[in-house]
This record gives sequence, C-alpha cells and structure tokens, in this order.
Amino acid sequence: AAAVSGCGSDSSASDGNDQIVMGFSQVGAESGWRTANTESIKASAKAAGFELKFSDAQGKQENQIKAIRSFIQQKVDVIAFSPVVETGWDTVLQEAKRANIPVILTDRAVDTEDTSLYKTFLGSDFVLEGEKAGQWLVENAADADVDGDGDVNVVQLEGTTGAAPAIDRAEGFAEAIKTDSKIKVSASQTGDFTRDGGKQVMESFLNSEDGIDVVFAHNDDMGLGAIEAIEASGLEPGKDIKIITVDAVKDGMAALAKGQINFIVECNPLLGDQLMDLANKVLDGEEVPARVVTEETTFTPEQAAEVLADRKY
Ligand code: AHR
Repeated sequence: AAAVSGCGSDSSASDGNDQIVMGFSQVGAESGWRTANTESIKASAKAAGFELKFSDAQGKQENQIKAIRSFIQQKVDVIAFSPVVETGWDTVLQEAKRANIPVILTDRAVDTEDTSLYKTFLGSDFVLEGEKAGQWLVENAADADVDGDGDVNVVQLEGTTGAAPAIDRAEGFAEAIKTDSKIKVSASQTGDFTRDGGKQVMESFLNSEDGIDVVFAHNDDMGLGAIEAIEASGLEPGKDIKIITVDAVKDGMAALAKGQINFIVECNPLLGDQLMDLANKVLDGEEVPARVVTEETTFTPEQAAEVLADRKY
C-alpha cells in the first residue's frame, strides 16, 4: 500500500506499512442519514484494517474535487466518494484514472458517459424510493384528500439541487402519481436535505398554498422540519396534513410511530462493510459488478412502532 502522510480530519496515519489506504470524500453532515453513513464508513474501515483518509466537503463540490486531488497527490490505494451533485466530475476522475487509483462511488451516482472512470457504484435505487412513496399515496389517495375537495394537493420538499437523490426521487414520485389525476404537486422547492431547510420552505408553502393535503419530503430531516412548521401554524402533522418521507432514521421513525409522519421509504446508510469488501476485491483485481443496489423496505406507523426500540441509527 502507498505510504502517505496524514491528511484529513480522521487519518490514523501509519506510514510505511502495508495497510490499504482509502481516501473518502463525504458530502457533509446535513442529515441524520449522513451521520449514520459516516459512522458506518469509519467503523467498517477500522474493522477491515484500512487506513481511512476522511474528508468532509461541507456540501460543496469544489471541496470534494480538492479532496480527491489531494488523495491522488498522496497516492492513496483507492478513492471512494459520495458526490454532492451528479455532474462535473469527469476531469478529476480522469486525473485519478491517469494515476491508476481506482474510484468507487458510494451512495450517489455521477452523471458521466465514461463509466470507465469508476469501478462500481454502491447505493440505493433512488428512483425506486420515489416510486414507493408515490405508490403509497396512490393507494391512500382517498384518505390523503384531507380537505375533501376531490384533489390531493401535494407540496414537495426537494433534496439538494442537482443531487442524484433529489433528481431521482422526484422522478420516481412523479411517475407513480401519474396514475391518479386527482394527485397534483402544486409546489416544489429545495430544503437542501436539512431540518432547517425543510422548516423554512414549509413555512413559506403554508403561507402561499391553499389546501395542502400532503407533504412529500425527500428525507426525514426535511419532514421533521416541516412538522415543526405545521405545528407552529396550528395544524396537526400526520392528520391535517399527511407526510411522506425517505430514510427511516431514528428521529423519523419516532415521528412515524407517533403518527406525525404517515409513511417512510427506507434508504439504508450502512454502506461501510460493503464498501470495504468492494475495495478489497477491486485492489485484488477481482471483477466487481458495475452496480450494487442496497436492499430497502418501507414503514407504516405500526411497523415503525415495532422496530423503533432496536433501530440503531
Ligand atoms: O444521498 C442520500 C441522501 O442524502 C439521504 O436520503 C439524505 O438524508 C442525505 O442527506
């Protein structure tokens, strides 16, 4: 393995030995999901005996590009990253390829025509997540027409603009609700996957939109922010306005069990073990699948109540 000197916040530098060195560029710390994902990557790297160079991009693509360039300069053995947005990666990934450093995408995809720029992509099927959210709404449309006006008026809290989960979840949801003309998305805006963002956008929707029946939030954190805004407006979340979210982190599951959220589509953040396994295989020259999809489920309030006590994150 490459001998490297310490970089990044969590390097456990071990120059001159044969430990595998992984450079990992994380999106940031925007959500409960992200925190669980970071913990999983760090714990699994430790368990696998990797030296992890961990870098937090604080939600900025330019920071991720800088981190990847720094990993290349330090000659790490493998680079893994979760791209904050989909586009704009070709140049830096070509640099990694020229340096013969394999790249593994985790959690989020990049939009490129040159798939030789990375070895594999490990993560969820975000389009399917959006579809599951939409299908639940189609199946529960009568109940979701809270004001009984014949229309199901949905407002959407989008994830970070340009991020794969924001683009794909919106697409999957739109596709699924097409089958019922009563369901309409009347307003859609980014809350940047944060609780504060979700709260602020929901406050403005409550002021500008009449007769909101449903909130579809692209993650639990924005849904939890929306709950605060709905309560502050004197309405009851989960009853006066139905809420659908994605992730199933502990805070989201607690709100679901209480009936403040009505349905959650799971997005699994525990990618660490699979990532280390794929990295080992890639470095051993083994064939790996181009795409590894994470297995996920969905939760109703009753199901959330059953599993809440054992939920790890
Ligand atoms: O890329 C995964 C998404 O990013 C999660 O759904 C969201 O919570 C996070 O910020």
